Amino acid sequence: MNDLEQLVATAQAEFDASPTPAELENAKARYIGKSGRVTELLKALASAPVEVKKTRGAEINQAKLRIEAALQARRESLADAELQAQLRAEALDVTLPGRRRGSGGLHPVSRTIERIEAIFGSMGFDVAEGPEIETDWMSFTALNNPENHPARSMQDTFYVDLKDEGGRWLNLRPHTSPMQVRYARAHAARHAGAATMPEIRVIAPGRTYRVDSDATHSPMFHQCEGLWIGENVSFKDLKSVFIEFVRQFFETDDFDARFRPSYFPFTEPSAEIDIAFRSGPLAGRWLEVAGSGQVHPNVVRNYGLDPEKYIGFAFGMGPDRLAMLRYGIDDLRLMFDGDLRFLKQFN
Ligand code: DAH
Repeated sequence: MNDLEQLVATAQAEFDASPTPAELENAKARYIGKSGRVTELLKALASAPVEVKKTRGAEINQAKLRIEAALQARRESLADAELQAQLRAEALDVTLPGRRRGSGGLHPVSRTIERIEAIFGSMGFDVAEGPEIETDWMSFTALNNPENHPARSMQDTFYVDLKDEGGRWLNLRPHTSPMQVRYARAHAARHAGAATMPEIRVIAPGRTYRVDSDATHSPMFHQCEGLWIGENVSFKDLKSVFIEFVRQFFETDDFDARFRPSYFPFTEPSAEIDIAFRSGPLAGRWLEVAGSGQVHPNVVRNYGLDPEKYIGFAFGMGPDRLAMLRYGIDDLRLMFDGDLRFLKQFN
């Protein structure tokens, strides 16, 4: 092996032994850099005779080309190795189970409200929504609450730091009963002057607020108001409608219901509606599910209707409570904690 072949062979060996691109470039400098060995050989030719320059020069250049080719080959194999390493590091295991996008679900209270709407809807009731910030007149006065009724007090009602037209503080509605008045007034206005007015049959579910918080009370809770007003609507209609609702809501006939005399300023007579299942985990316990009554003449008047002509009943129930009974939930606070472990069970 002549000296040039030897040189090519050692250069090749050094290139192949260089583990990184930086070390490879250092090795390159030792051979074909400015003062590399090949460059030195070419410089040394300067003083050689022309014949020698020709043949030896050509041989050195030949060797240089081979060294450059070896360098290029090593560069490519290092780049390739780096790419492979990167691909390995970023490898995807396509056999892993995918991460699905979670599908949302309805809150048990929303489900319950939808269920209430569907059942009353099937009995010809409209569904109405109304404001959660109410005037004093709508929440109390129109509903026949005396001026100094305790329901207006700070202990029960959240007030908003704003006043209504009458200079009274606005409130976060403590019940959905103002929706009786809003809906009935709009209905009466729509049919004003007509010879006959279609009956009012509506439910109004929504959020309500009271200063109260424990295992069975939440400062925000839900109510659903019901109202049926016509020329000949009686307490027996309330009974049949409500019992039919309970039957459909709990999907059972196996319960007793009672209308227990009570007092609300906006109804006369008034009754709490209690039910007791005859079987199942709650068997034999009277459960209060709604307040109700025949709408007081003063309230009918505030609807903008003549109490001599129009009569009917109203009721108010708690969808939170109904959801708890239906699903067997014992702490109301679970409903509003937003804990997915709880909420997922309903979807
Ligand atoms: N508003 C009452 C409450 O919050 C519930 C209620 C009772 C509503 C009797 C009614 C009713 O419509 O007739 O306790």
